[in-house]
Amino acid sequence: MPVYFAPGRVNLIGEHTDYNGGFVFPCALDFGTRLTVTPNSDRLLRFRSKNLADTVELPTDRSFQPLPNRSWVNYPLGCIAQLAEKAGGLPSGYDLLFEGNVPIGAGLSSSASIEVVTAYAFNDMLGLGLDRTQLARIAQQAEHTYAGVNCGIMDQFVSANGKKDHAIFLNCDTLEFDYVPLCLDDVSIVLTNSHSPHKLDAGTYNRRVQECEEAVRIISRSKPIRQLADLTISDFKEIQDTITDPVILRRARHVVTEIQRTRDAVRALKDNDLSAFGQLMNQSHQSLRDDYEVTGLELDTLAETAWQVPGVIGSRMTGGGFGGCTVSLVRNDAIDEFKQTVGNTYRQTTGLQAEFYMAHTGDGVRKITE
Ligand code: GLA
Repeated sequence: MPVYFAPGRVNLIGEHTDYNGGFVFPCALDFGTRLTVTPNSDRLLRFRSKNLADTVELPTDRSFQPLPNRSWVNYPLGCIAQLAEKAGGLPSGYDLLFEGNVPIGAGLSSSASIEVVTAYAFNDMLGLGLDRTQLARIAQQAEHTYAGVNCGIMDQFVSANGKKDHAIFLNCDTLEFDYVPLCLDDVSIVLTNSHSPHKLDAGTYNRRVQECEEAVRIISRSKPIRQLADLTISDFKEIQDTITDPVILRRARHVVTEIQRTRDAVRALKDNDLSAFGQLMNQSHQSLRDDYEVTGLELDTLAETAWQVPGVIGSRMTGGGFGGCTVSLVRNDAIDEFKQTVGNTYRQTTGLQAEFYMAHTGDGVRKITE
């Protein structure tokens, strides 16, 4: 029975830049989703998850449609539908057993790991020969058409292409990328799960995507651009007065400055200047809080408390926002103090219990058993 695995991810910097053609800097984690596939003669796709109770069965001889009620099955189904079409149909039914250890709703891309592991497995079993980038695109398309989230390419790309001990500096316009070694010495990447009840829903995410498109339309009246990533910060300063809507102005300013921060952060890491990297992480959070408005009390409390703890190099929200996690770079000898201070302040301020994970990087999607 073949078994496959695809990782979740944490983004170190470059948030809400991917669907604007900008840079991101994520790494794949060592936790993710494992998929065991067994062909069956029932001509059924049978979806089961060790994490959830329900089993969903769908006939393979009818065309696939998204399932109602935001079923988790839409993530794998959206991938299988595209690959089955490329293969001219499925040769048999399949029993699919998913088992994930990415905390769900933590903004660490559990859904991308489900999509990517499914796309990779069916590409392998159907002998389609698609490369990792093509599979990431298929997984992103599944998220658009089956889950209704008009996401960028970051999560699926890093789940497909991740590399242990490295982050990926990805140009989301051209999909050219570099693996950058994460030489952190006596520093660790700590994830703090807010367990916030405020989740980033598809509607709010898609609204941000639309606001950026609106910014491109307005700016293009005086300076034609394809996407916000076409502007440098000085270009933006020249045209910013043409954006009279203050909300659209703030959204565009976040994207343009975040793209520059991401370039600067990668430069700082390559120069071994972790302290500059940390400052850029903090500025990224401030921009997501003030201009992009996707943080909220929970994530702000986590990041702002972390900034006060000696030994914290940088801290920011990661992923789409509202709920989910912060990512912090913390000196190893300050981790206990960090957990205690952040955990206590967070409980006092929000009444919620934060959860901490040490982030270990991992490789991209792969087959683990023949
Ligand atoms: C979610 C989306 C990504 C990206 C981030 C924000 O994780 O899936 O494509 O837009 O939010 O950076």
